[in-house]
Amino acid sequence: MEPTPDLTGLSLEQKAALGSGADFWTTKAAGPVAPMVLTDGPHGVRKQAEASDPLGLAVSLPATCFPPAVGLGQSWDVELVRRVGVALGQESRTLGVDVLLGPGINIKRDPRCGRNFEYYSEDPILTGALGTAWVAGLQSTGVGASLKHFAANNAEHDRMRSSSDVDPRPLREIYLRAFAHIVRTAAPWTVMCSYNRINGVHAAENHWLLTAVLRDEWGFDGVVVSDWGAVTDRVAAVAAGLDLEMPGSGGASDAAVVAAVRAGDLDPAVVDRAAERVAALAKKAEAARRHPVGHDPAAHHALAREVAARCVVLLQNDNAILPLSAGQSIAVIGEFAENPRYQGGGSSRVNATQVDIPLAEIRALAGQGAVRFARGFTTDDTTDETLRAEAVEIAAAADTAVVFLGLAARQESEGFDRDDIELPAGQLELLTEVVRVQPATVVVLVHGGVLRLAPVAGLAPAILDAALLGQAGGGAIADILFGKVTPSGRLTETVPVRIQDTPAYVAFPGENSHVRYGEGLYVGYRWYDARELEVTYPFGHGLSYTTFAYSDLTVTSADDMITVQVTVTNTGSRAGREVVQCYTAKPDSSVTRPPRELKGFAVTDLEPGMSERVSIMLRRDDLAYWETRVDRWIVEDGDYQVCVGASSRDIRLTTQLTVAGDPLRLPITLDSTLGEVMNNPDAGPLLEFLARNAPPGLSPDSGGAALGIDMARMVASFPLRLMVGFSQNPDGRTELEQLIASLDGGEETPADR
Ligand code: BGC
Repeated sequence: MEPTPDLTGLSLEQKAALGSGADFWTTKAAGPVAPMVLTDGPHGVRKQAEASDPLGLAVSLPATCFPPAVGLGQSWDVELVRRVGVALGQESRTLGVDVLLGPGINIKRDPRCGRNFEYYSEDPILTGALGTAWVAGLQSTGVGASLKHFAANNAEHDRMRSSSDVDPRPLREIYLRAFAHIVRTAAPWTVMCSYNRINGVHAAENHWLLTAVLRDEWGFDGVVVSDWGAVTDRVAAVAAGLDLEMPGSGGASDAAVVAAVRAGDLDPAVVDRAAERVAALAKKAEAARRHPVGHDPAAHHALAREVAARCVVLLQNDNAILPLSAGQSIAVIGEFAENPRYQGGGSSRVNATQVDIPLAEIRALAGQGAVRFARGFTTDDTTDETLRAEAVEIAAAADTAVVFLGLAARQESEGFDRDDIELPAGQLELLTEVVRVQPATVVVLVHGGVLRLAPVAGLAPAILDAALLGQAGGGAIADILFGKVTPSGRLTETVPVRIQDTPAYVAFPGENSHVRYGEGLYVGYRWYDARELEVTYPFGHGLSYTTFAYSDLTVTSADDMITVQVTVTNTGSRAGREVVQCYTAKPDSSVTRPPRELKGFAVTDLEPGMSERVSIMLRRDDLAYWETRVDRWIVEDGDYQVCVGASSRDIRLTTQLTVAGDPLRLPITLDSTLGEVMNNPDAGPLLEFLARNAPPGLSPDSGGAALGIDMARMVASFPLRLMVGFSQNPDGRTELEQLIASLDGGEETPADR
């Protein structure tokens, strides 16, 4: 690690200037501090050559477009994601980029969020594992990551003003969990605070978020950079813990910082610290630049194809109509086969070095088989009977039809949300007609956000979810269709039966600049499982061209780590990869908990007939819930179910693990209930006092039982002050207060502070 430059010679003006950009993508130089280049991110390098903008409008230099997070996440493969990070780092270095603005790790709270294609999953453990791998890979090349968008930025609607109103448990257990994990395990060079407010306070001005949680609790020592334009009050932001405002404000906000320090409204030490952090980051970037790296664009395209194939999910494959065999005649239908959609719109848009066309790639692998193509529909949603008739005609004449369906670029993007999760009606009508003449129909889905698939699942025997796969997606789709690669992708989001079933259906996207996260912890599969709702495809689902059996599940724990082991056997006739998923449950929990939660996963590649003993390491801490009464994580004592399976709804084996929990001692106050006191090991004297002072009618063995009242349960919720109040003893309350004061106070609670 390079020593931090000595900034003692810098004036206050220079230090303030280090805290905002020189232009859209560059920081300023001051004294010994050199400027840096930051740019998007995340699935390719968007280095704009001339005109600059954050919306992806002005053209950028060619770079490899890897699968966006919606696709990449479906690989469930941390090693693959790490390799993508390395490749992105190499390209960043070639293009002179010091910090690549990614990964986007917000949780997919609602399928309508327009930017879900830039995020990995509805689950924080999966997101955390993939994000860690991406950051580690990128930073191994000397390029900094920017973990974004911190935090609770789960919709595009009104994103620059809206307050995400989230309770502490979902905030900690769902929305901050992946951020915490990646900060602790991969030490990203920067974290990007989001546009939105969190419980009323702008992320950029949120001292609790940027300092108390990010730095003091998680130990983050890098730079907090604002999302582009997210700073409304630079002085408040610096005081809260922001280091770098991007882009610059032409010097206006630097002057405001200087004026605030001079007026005594801002601690100069805070400005010094921010400048030091920016200087340390610039130093790291400078050190990396001294060792040039190169890359081979063709090799990166090949990597993009390998990765993309790993991201395809085989949703269904009735009668094993996939893989296709060379020599079959194939009708390829759909605009997206010729004009592929492979990334989303907005700031992440990459100018790809080359693009594989699915139709051409299918032709290349089809051997002697005739491949005919029909567009079938237009992406402007107008029905074109001629296009449809052509498609039906070639489908009827072929052995198999491969129909590409999906959303057009204009239908989903950064900056706005979708109103629904429907495929265009015209595409479903086309599919209905194709299937009528050609039962052997394969659907390939192209989209950034979840689609309602019940109609497709009812029509087509085979469905491939190709999400958005980056520039080599066309080749990857062909590889999967013809079995050159056996599919192994898994869904990272549940596909609901109807939009009305989704957790935030009535609360999304909020109103009057507030969005209430009323579903709490119950996001994604946590919600569908708790409500026992039928889903079209569950979280974690994905088929293969082979089959796997699970046996001999064991679980052991030592030193805060839990080792889950299971034997997986390839019981089919092809080599393939299984993604083994581990969920835990605590049905007797004292707090509300989803029926099962992902805690770990692993991949295994197996030849036919082969077995492997697969190990999944869980952290004991991942069993914890956020205890709001003491503001910290608590692992509950007792038995946990440990389940392994092939999806959240395909659990193959379950065993039990007994865990010694964390002590939780709540302070006894006048407001403590009798039930709480009875569970407190220190409360003996208090119980004796209450036995002497409780009003006779309230004792558990009083006449209530004769009336059919369970007195023990009824009085358990009575606060102590009420018990002594009912006793009619004029000194009761004073005696009770003295007794409480004489007891050891338990833990400090947030309310005490
Ligand atoms: C986006 C960020 C992006 C930045 C710079 C913003 O509008 O929210 O994700 O990194 O622009 O382009």
